[in-house]
Amino acid sequence: MIGIIGGTHILEIDVLHHVREEVIKTPYGIAEVDLGLIDGIEVVLIQRHGKKQNKPPHTINHPANFYAFKKLGVKYIVGMGSVGCLKEHIKLPTLIVPDDYIDFFSSTTIFNDKLVHITPGFSEKVRRALIVAGKGIPMIENGIYFQTRGPRLETKAEIRVIKNWADCVGMTAASEATVAKELGLEYAVVCTMDNYAHGIKDVTIDYEEIRRKAKENAELCLNVVGKAVKVIWDEYIDKKY
Ligand code: HPA
Repeated sequence: MIGIIGGTHILEIDVLHHVREEVIKTPYGIAEVDLGLIDGIEVVLIQRHGKKQNKPPHTINHPANFYAFKKLGVKYIVGMGSVGCLKEHIKLPTLIVPDDYIDFFSSTTIFNDKLVHITPGFSEKVRRALIVAGKGIPMIENGIYFQTRGPRLETKAEIRVIKNWADCVGMTAASEATVAKELGLEYAVVCTMDNYAHGIKDVTIDYEEIRRKAKENAELCLNVVGKAVKVIWDEYIDKKY
């Protein structure tokens, strides 16, 4: 089985079939998952904001979501997300597959009562699969993801600082990468750059506008995620016939 985690749109992958819902119990709480098939390959999908889309970023139960993947036997997880662009010269829309992240503000971990310090990072294997899957689509193959706590957007002053350190800004992928690594799972993310972050261009940004763009751009991303699942299946999964 291969895992997919994303926002509102993940169930719209056009090659996804036979979806059924399940609730998975974990030591961290429950996770709501969908089980389906992409080209005959079993996939587990999680909508990170919940089935009712009512969990803002700082309330998402990342440990429960990723423990559920592990419990179901998933090792490779493809994430998709929406980010703001921190670089004025990048033309939008484009996808980005970040290769590192900065996360000073979240304290997400599964290790609250055990002294463990993992070395964080995205899975290079899942990143490779996403890059292969994205051939022919506008995609930036490297970059730094800066995670803010949310749910509010950033101030102009905050963006003036972080634009010197990172390429895109979002609210979830760094926490997901940390928890995935703590659980021994392989995770990377493909993001749609849906807006210029606050103050990068001389336009006001507004969440409804970002959502509209994210919806428009999701199709590009879903296409890549569907293909990446096939690449992971073909290249990384040990098939016992
Ligand atoms: N900031 C933080 N998260 C985001 C943004 C942004 O500008 N756009 C999409 N997700």
